[in-house]
Amino acid sequence: MKQLRDVSDSDYKVAMGRLLVMYTQVDYLIMRAVAERIASAPDDESRLFMAKQVGDESRHVRIQQEWIKEFGTDETPVFNELQQEMFLVHFRSLNWLDFLTDMYICIEALGGEAVEQIVPMADPGTRASLKVPLQDEVDHIAFGLGRVEYELSKLPVNESISYLKTIETRLDFLDDTLHGLGIDVPAMFTAVGADYRKVVDTVLQRRQEIMDRLAQPLAA
Ligand SMILES: [Fe+2]
Ligand SMILES: [Fe+2]
Repeated sequence: MKQLRDVSDSDYKVAMGRLLVMYTQVDYLIMRAVAERIASAPDDESRLFMAKQVGDESRHVRIQQEWIKEFGTDETPVFNELQQEMFLVHFRSLNWLDFLTDMYICIEALGGEAVEQIVPMADPGTRASLKVPLQDEVDHIAFGLGRVEYELSKLPVNESISYLKTIETRLDFLDDTLHGLGIDVPAMFTAVGADYRKVVDTVLQRRQEIMDRLAQPLAA
Protein backbone atom coordinates (compact mmCIF):
# COMPACT_ATOMS: atom_id res chain seq x y z
CA MET A 1 0.00 0.00 0.00
CA LYS A 2 1.16 3.52 -0.82
CA GLN A 3 2.41 5.70 2.00
CA LEU A 4 0.29 8.73 2.81
CA ARG A 5 2.11 11.88 1.82
CA ASP A 6 3.97 13.97 4.34
CA VAL A 7 2.78 17.58 4.24
CA SER A 8 6.32 18.81 4.94
CA ASP A 9 7.23 17.85 1.33
CA SER A 10 6.97 21.32 -0.24
CA ASP A 11 6.39 20.25 -3.89
CA TYR A 12 3.55 18.04 -2.75
CA LYS A 13 2.09 20.80 -0.63
CA VAL A 14 2.13 23.41 -3.39
CA ALA A 15 0.56 21.04 -5.93
CA MET A 16 -2.08 19.67 -3.55
CA GLY A 17 -2.87 23.23 -2.50
CA ARG A 18 -3.52 24.17 -6.15
CA LEU A 19 -5.70 21.09 -6.71
CA LEU A 20 -7.72 21.88 -3.58
CA VAL A 21 -8.25 25.49 -4.68
CA MET A 22 -9.28 24.29 -8.16
CA TYR A 23 -11.68 21.67 -6.76
CA THR A 24 -13.25 24.25 -4.43
CA GLN A 25 -13.69 26.72 -7.28
CA VAL A 26 -15.39 24.07 -9.38
CA ASP A 27 -17.78 23.21 -6.53
CA TYR A 28 -18.57 26.89 -6.13
CA LEU A 29 -19.29 27.26 -9.86
CA ILE A 30 -21.43 24.10 -9.87
CA MET A 31 -23.41 25.58 -6.98
CA ARG A 32 -24.05 28.77 -8.92
CA ALA A 33 -24.85 27.11 -12.26
CA VAL A 34 -27.25 24.60 -10.66
CA ALA A 35 -28.91 27.34 -8.57
CA GLU A 36 -29.55 29.39 -11.72
CA ARG A 37 -31.02 26.36 -13.45
CA ILE A 38 -33.62 25.53 -10.78
CA ALA A 39 -36.06 28.10 -12.17
CA SER A 40 -36.18 26.46 -15.60
CA ALA A 41 -35.88 22.80 -14.58
CA PRO A 42 -38.70 20.79 -16.17
CA ASP A 43 -40.32 19.21 -13.09
CA ASP A 44 -40.59 19.35 -9.30
CA GLU A 45 -38.46 16.27 -8.74
CA SER A 46 -35.55 17.96 -10.50
CA ARG A 47 -36.12 21.28 -8.74
CA LEU A 48 -36.19 19.61 -5.31
CA PHE A 49 -33.04 17.62 -6.00
CA MET A 50 -31.14 20.58 -7.43
CA ALA A 51 -32.04 22.75 -4.43
CA LYS A 52 -30.57 20.05 -2.18
CA GLN A 53 -27.49 19.86 -4.39
CA VAL A 54 -26.95 23.62 -4.11
CA GLY A 55 -26.92 23.16 -0.32
CA ASP A 56 -24.47 20.24 -0.64
CA GLU A 57 -22.07 22.21 -2.85
CA SER A 58 -22.22 25.18 -0.50
CA ARG A 59 -21.21 22.85 2.34
CA HIS A 60 -18.37 21.41 0.23
CA VAL A 61 -17.05 24.89 -0.49
CA ARG A 62 -17.08 25.71 3.25
CA ILE A 63 -15.35 22.47 4.24
CA GLN A 64 -12.69 22.92 1.56
CA GLN A 65 -12.11 26.62 2.30
CA GLU A 66 -11.57 25.84 5.95
CA TRP A 67 -9.20 23.01 5.12
CA ILE A 68 -7.22 25.16 2.63
CA LYS A 69 -6.69 27.75 5.40
CA GLU A 70 -5.50 25.10 7.81
CA PHE A 71 -3.34 23.44 5.16
CA GLY A 72 -1.70 26.82 4.72
CA THR A 73 -0.97 27.13 1.01
CA ASP A 74 -1.53 29.78 -1.63
CA GLU A 75 -5.24 30.65 -1.83
CA THR A 76 -5.01 32.51 -5.15
CA PRO A 77 -7.77 31.29 -7.52
CA VAL A 78 -6.71 28.82 -10.23
CA PHE A 79 -9.50 30.05 -12.54
CA ASN A 80 -9.56 33.82 -13.08
CA GLU A 81 -12.75 35.95 -13.12
CA LEU A 82 -13.18 35.66 -16.89
CA GLN A 83 -12.82 31.87 -16.84
CA GLN A 84 -15.36 31.63 -14.03
CA GLU A 85 -17.79 33.78 -16.00
CA MET A 86 -17.23 31.61 -19.09
CA PHE A 87 -18.20 28.54 -17.07
CA LEU A 88 -21.51 30.12 -16.01
CA VAL A 89 -22.21 31.49 -19.50
CA HIS A 90 -21.60 28.03 -20.96
CA PHE A 91 -24.12 26.36 -18.65
CA ARG A 92 -26.68 29.15 -19.18
CA SER A 93 -26.52 28.59 -22.92
CA LEU A 94 -27.44 24.88 -22.80
CA ASN A 95 -30.80 23.19 -23.24
CA TRP A 96 -31.86 20.83 -20.46
CA LEU A 97 -30.39 17.64 -21.89
CA ASP A 98 -27.04 19.24 -22.74
CA PHE A 99 -26.99 20.82 -19.28
CA LEU A 100 -27.46 17.37 -17.72
CA THR A 101 -24.71 15.89 -19.89
CA ASP A 102 -22.12 18.58 -19.24
CA MET A 103 -22.90 19.06 -15.56
CA TYR A 104 -23.45 15.51 -14.39
CA ILE A 105 -21.53 13.29 -16.78
CA CYS A 106 -18.59 15.51 -17.57
CA ILE A 107 -18.05 17.62 -14.46
CA GLU A 108 -19.54 15.54 -11.67
CA ALA A 109 -18.93 11.95 -12.80
CA LEU A 110 -15.67 12.26 -14.75
CA GLY A 111 -14.20 15.19 -12.81
CA GLY A 112 -15.11 13.43 -9.57
CA GLU A 113 -13.45 10.25 -10.80
CA ALA A 114 -10.20 12.21 -11.32
CA VAL A 115 -10.44 13.64 -7.79
CA GLU A 116 -10.99 10.15 -6.37
CA GLN A 117 -7.70 9.07 -7.92
CA ILE A 118 -5.71 11.46 -5.76
CA VAL A 119 -7.39 10.49 -2.48
CA PRO A 120 -5.28 7.38 -1.83
CA MET A 121 -2.02 9.33 -1.96
CA ALA A 122 -3.23 12.43 -0.13
CA ASP A 123 -2.20 13.43 3.41
CA PRO A 124 -4.72 12.54 6.18
CA GLY A 125 -6.13 16.09 6.51
CA THR A 126 -6.83 16.37 2.79
CA ARG A 127 -8.38 12.92 2.73
CA ALA A 128 -10.68 13.85 5.59
CA SER A 129 -11.69 17.10 3.84
CA LEU A 130 -12.72 15.18 0.70
CA LYS A 131 -14.79 12.56 2.50
CA VAL A 132 -18.16 14.36 2.73
CA PRO A 133 -17.87 16.04 -0.69
CA LEU A 134 -17.09 12.78 -2.48
CA GLN A 135 -19.92 10.96 -0.70
CA ASP A 136 -22.44 13.61 -1.81
CA GLU A 137 -21.17 13.50 -5.38
CA VAL A 138 -22.43 9.92 -5.65
CA ASP A 139 -25.99 11.26 -5.21
CA HIS A 140 -25.49 14.08 -7.68
CA ILE A 141 -24.18 11.70 -10.34
CA ALA A 142 -27.05 9.26 -9.75
CA PHE A 143 -29.56 12.08 -10.24
CA GLY A 144 -27.88 13.36 -13.40
CA LEU A 145 -27.46 9.98 -15.05
CA GLY A 146 -31.02 9.00 -14.19
CA ARG A 147 -32.31 12.21 -15.76
CA VAL A 148 -30.24 11.77 -18.91
CA GLU A 149 -31.64 8.24 -19.25
CA TYR A 150 -35.16 9.53 -18.73
CA GLU A 151 -34.78 12.29 -21.33
CA LEU A 152 -33.31 9.83 -23.84
CA SER A 153 -36.18 7.40 -23.23
CA LYS A 154 -38.64 10.08 -24.38
CA LEU A 155 -36.88 10.55 -27.72
CA PRO A 156 -37.33 8.32 -30.78
CA VAL A 157 -34.63 5.60 -30.69
CA ASN A 158 -32.69 6.97 -33.67
CA GLU A 159 -32.53 10.41 -32.04
CA SER A 160 -31.33 8.91 -28.76
CA ILE A 161 -28.61 7.01 -30.56
CA SER A 162 -27.42 10.10 -32.38
CA TYR A 163 -27.49 12.07 -29.11
CA LEU A 164 -25.24 9.45 -27.52
CA LYS A 165 -22.75 10.09 -30.30
CA THR A 166 -22.84 13.81 -29.57
CA ILE A 167 -22.12 13.11 -25.87
CA GLU A 168 -18.70 11.80 -26.85
CA THR A 169 -18.07 14.99 -28.84
CA ARG A 170 -19.25 17.20 -25.95
CA LEU A 171 -16.89 15.41 -23.55
CA ASP A 172 -13.94 15.83 -25.91
CA PHE A 173 -14.78 19.50 -26.34
CA LEU A 174 -14.88 20.15 -22.59
CA ASP A 175 -11.65 18.25 -22.13
CA ASP A 176 -9.97 20.39 -24.81
CA THR A 177 -11.34 23.53 -23.14
CA LEU A 178 -9.69 22.63 -19.83
CA HIS A 179 -6.38 22.06 -21.54
CA GLY A 180 -6.87 25.29 -23.50
CA LEU A 181 -7.12 27.27 -20.24
CA GLY A 182 -3.42 26.74 -19.80
CA ILE A 183 -3.79 24.85 -16.55
CA ASP A 184 -1.20 22.10 -16.37
CA VAL A 185 -3.35 19.42 -14.80
CA PRO A 186 -0.92 16.55 -15.62
CA ALA A 187 1.88 18.33 -13.75
CA MET A 188 -0.39 18.93 -10.74
CA PHE A 189 -1.36 15.27 -10.57
CA THR A 190 2.20 14.08 -10.99
CA ALA A 191 3.43 16.40 -8.22
CA VAL A 192 0.98 14.90 -5.71
CA GLY A 193 2.24 11.43 -6.58
CA ALA A 194 -0.47 10.26 -8.99
CA ASP A 195 0.36 8.42 -12.20
CA TYR A 196 -1.36 10.79 -14.63
CA ARG A 197 -1.61 8.17 -17.38
CA LYS A 198 -3.42 5.87 -14.97
CA VAL A 199 -5.75 8.68 -13.90
CA VAL A 200 -6.65 9.30 -17.54
CA ASP A 201 -7.21 5.57 -18.16
CA THR A 202 -9.49 5.30 -15.14
CA VAL A 203 -11.51 8.35 -16.23
CA LEU A 204 -11.83 6.96 -19.77
CA GLN A 205 -12.93 3.61 -18.39
CA ARG A 206 -15.60 5.32 -16.28
CA ARG A 207 -16.69 7.27 -19.34
CA GLN A 208 -17.06 4.03 -21.30
CA GLU A 209 -19.13 2.48 -18.48
CA ILE A 210 -21.47 5.48 -18.53
CA MET A 211 -21.81 5.36 -22.32
CA ASP A 212 -22.53 1.61 -22.18
CA ARG A 213 -25.16 2.12 -19.51
CA LEU A 214 -26.88 4.85 -21.54
CA ALA A 215 -26.75 2.76 -24.73
CA GLN A 216 -28.18 -0.37 -23.10
CA PRO A 217 -31.93 0.47 -23.23
CA LEU A 218 -31.51 1.58 -26.85
CA ALA A 219 -30.06 -1.74 -27.95
CA ALA A 220 -33.10 -3.69 -26.70
FE1 LIG B 1 -19.30 19.09 -4.59
FE1 LIG C 1 -21.66 17.72 -6.83
